[in-house]
Amino acid sequence: MTLVAPDPELQQILDLARDLALRAGSLQADRYETELTIETKSASIDLVTEVDEACEALIVEGIRAGRPDDAILAEEGQGDGDGDGDEGAGVRWIIDPLDGTTNFAHGFPRFCVSIGVERHGVREVGVVYDPLLDERYEAVRGAGAWLGARRLRVTHEADLGRALIATGFAYDVHRSEDDNLARFVHIVKHARGIRRDGSAALDLCCVAAGRLDGYWEIKLKPWDVSAGLLLVEEAGGRTSDLAGRPAPRSGEEILVSNGPLHETLRRHLADAPALSADATDASGALTPRPA
Ligand code: 2AM
Ligand code: CA
Repeated sequence: MTLVAPDPELQQILDLARDLALRAGSLQADRYETELTIETKSASIDLVTEVDEACEALIVEGIRAGRPDDAILAEEGQGDGDGDGDEGAGVRWIIDPLDGTTNFAHGFPRFCVSIGVERHGVREVGVVYDPLLDERYEAVRGAGAWLGARRLRVTHEADLGRALIATGFAYDVHRSEDDNLARFVHIVKHARGIRRDGSAALDLCCVAAGRLDGYWEIKLKPWDVSAGLLLVEEAGGRTSDLAGRPAPRSGEEILVSNGPLHETLRRHLADAPALSADATDASGALTPRPA
C-alpha cells in the first residue's frame, strides 16, 4: 500500500513536495557534522546555518519551477514575504527547510525538512523528511498519514501516567516569563515520561506514528506545524490550542494527542501553577509566583 492523493493536482503537489524534501534532506545529511557558518537571529540561541539557507533556496526554486503560480511562506524569508494575506491563495506552500537547527548545528541527530501545503486556506498535504533515519512522513487530507509504505495510527493510551509526552521551549525562554516551564514541571510529575528533542515537526510526526502519546508547545511558527498537524489529524489524532479550540495556523499555541488523552492532558496543562523563570527560591527550585 502507498499514499495516493484524491485528485491530480494534490498528487502533483505531493510528488513535488516529496522530491524537494528528499533533496533538501540529502543536503542536510551531506553537511551534518561538517564545518558550518552559523549566525544568530532573534536571540543568541536562535540559530541559522548556511544549510538552512541552501535547503530553502533548493525548495523555493523547485516550487517556482514546478508550480510558478503558488504562494510560498518559508522560514528564512526566500518565499513571498511574511505570508500575511496569502491565507486564501489557491495553493500556498509553508516551508521549514531545516527544523531542529540547534540540533543540526551541534551535531545532535534530530532534525528534518518540513513542507506543508494549503489549498484555499485548508491544509491538504504534509511531508516531513528525517534524513538521518531516512524516514519520510507524508499525509494528504482524506488519504491518511504514512511513514514510507506504512499507514500511521496514533496510540490508544488514555492514562497520562502511562503516556510519553513531548514539548519544547521558545527562543525567548531566557527573557520571557511566558516560558512553558510550569507546564513542563507539572507534566514531568504526572506523565510516564517527557521528551524535549528540539524539532517540532518530528515531535508531531511521532504523535502520528504512535511513538508519542501527546505533544504541546507555544510560540511556534506556521512552518514548524503545518505539515505535522495534518499528519496527526490523518493518523486519527486530535489537534487544538491549549484551550481546546482549533489549532491556530500561526503555531502560536498547539496541543496534539492521540485523542483519548486530549482532555486529560489539556486539563493538566491548564492546572500547572503559575510560575515564571525568575520565580525561583534560593535553592533554584521553582516556587509559585506571588499573586
Ligand atoms: P527551528 O529549529 O526551525 O528553529 C524547538 O522547540 C522547536 O521549536 C524547533 O522546531 C524550532 O524550530 C522551533 N522554534 C522554537 N522557537 C521558535 C521560534 N521563535 N520561531 C520558530 N520556530 C521556533
Ligand atoms: Ca528552521
